[in-house]
Amino acid sequence: MSINDRSEGAFNEEVKNVTTSRSKWHVPASIVSKRTINPIRETVHKMNAKPNPDKALISLALGDPTHFGNFKIHENCIDAVIKQLQSYKANGYPPAIGCEEARKAVAKKFSTEEAPLTSRDVVIGSGASDALNIAIGALCNEGQNILLPRPGFSLYQTISKSKGIEDRYYNLLPDRNWEIDLDQLVTLIDDKTVCIVINNPSNPCGSNFSRHHLELILQVCETYKLVIISDEIYEDMVFGSTKFYPIASLTKSVPILKISGLAKRYLVPGWRVGWILIYDQNGVLDEIRSALLSLSNLILGSNSLIQYSIPDILFNTPNEFYEDTINKLERNASISASILSKIRGLHVIVPQGAMYMMVGINIKEFKDIKDDLEFTEKLLEEESVMCLPGRCFHYPDYVRIVFTPPPEKLEEAYNRIREFCIRHHI
Ligand SMILES: Cc1ncc(COP(=O)(O)O)c(C=O)c1O
Repeated sequence: MSINDRSEGAFNEEVKNVTTSRSKWHVPASIVSKRTINPIRETVHKMNAKPNPDKALISLALGDPTHFGNFKIHENCIDAVIKQLQSYKANGYPPAIGCEEARKAVAKKFSTEEAPLTSRDVVIGSGASDALNIAIGALCNEGQNILLPRPGFSLYQTISKSKGIEDRYYNLLPDRNWEIDLDQLVTLIDDKTVCIVINNPSNPCGSNFSRHHLELILQVCETYKLVIISDEIYEDMVFGSTKFYPIASLTKSVPILKISGLAKRYLVPGWRVGWILIYDQNGVLDEIRSALLSLSNLILGSNSLIQYSIPDILFNTPNEFYEDTINKLERNASISASILSKIRGLHVIVPQGAMYMMVGINIKEFKDIKDDLEFTEKLLEEESVMCLPGRCFHYPDYVRIVFTPPPEKLEEAYNRIREFCIRHHI
């Protein structure tokens, strides 16, 4: 008799004979979920501190430029989305790899003479994070290894480890504006090394590589035949006379998957649209193109409303909007560097771009602080200022500061940090 035809009682009788391993509920979490670890969440979770109730909390920890309300999106972006909403044409599923209109617009916007693109070279993802996940997943297998920056954005580790890919860390040199230590980098490479992730301009360092340094990185990748995943989500967000160079514009032979998106440049991280640009003039990545397409199917495509708005967002947002954003960031960077560099016990590396800076703590100069974690915990407890300890980025004895709050909030936070350091200095 089939199970469908049995009475409930008869079925329960038979269940008694089920093997013991299936006679009790036992639902363990998957291996992949257990190895998917976000070091920032882990560290913050372990932090044993609450803000001082007598002082308003100022967070210098959030990499979300919209948080304080001083970095607003341009009205053109709002109009672009309203137009799509009213068209009734952007409510369906887009193709998994992205709608043609968006891919075409992205290709046109980021094509250069040296590195031309067509819509075929664009994969749209749900934010740069999804683009990174797809790119790493398309290239690497369990048991192979990937080269990641130290200090670096922790999502690279999270994605790699969750896929069973070994993460190996190349050092960035604080005394050289966080350039890569290329001598140490080459010692990490072996037969199982698939690719290198670079992040320029950098979170958490706020650095921007020179053309010369990018050319040296390309030479190493050419020699060892390493594919580059270049996370350029902060592209063009650089200060003063420094110039940003997309690494793909400097090579005709090294294959590059560039990661970027709307989040930072257009101040809309919550809209969740990013992309992968495939720069491959010699067909080295032919198989990877199909792999990217396969993996983009996992989420059936990113937000269609925003995708269809991309042509308007990219081509009709006035330049003054970016200039204004960069000027505000530059002003905040300069306030941050000038105040913090005068505080005894701290060591500042002046940021050249993005929204971040790493500040070194000369631990030996503090009488009752043993490391970066204790520094951030005590700072929160005593002064209600929240920063992330360097260990979130594999870099102890530093803290990362996000300098997007309004200048008066930044100054208030830095005054409190000064008082804190004076109190704890030897
Ligand atoms: C270096 C870097 N890459 C990628 C991302 C993720 O971007 P998205 O919000 O588009 O997923 C971030 C976000 O902070 C970042 O700092």
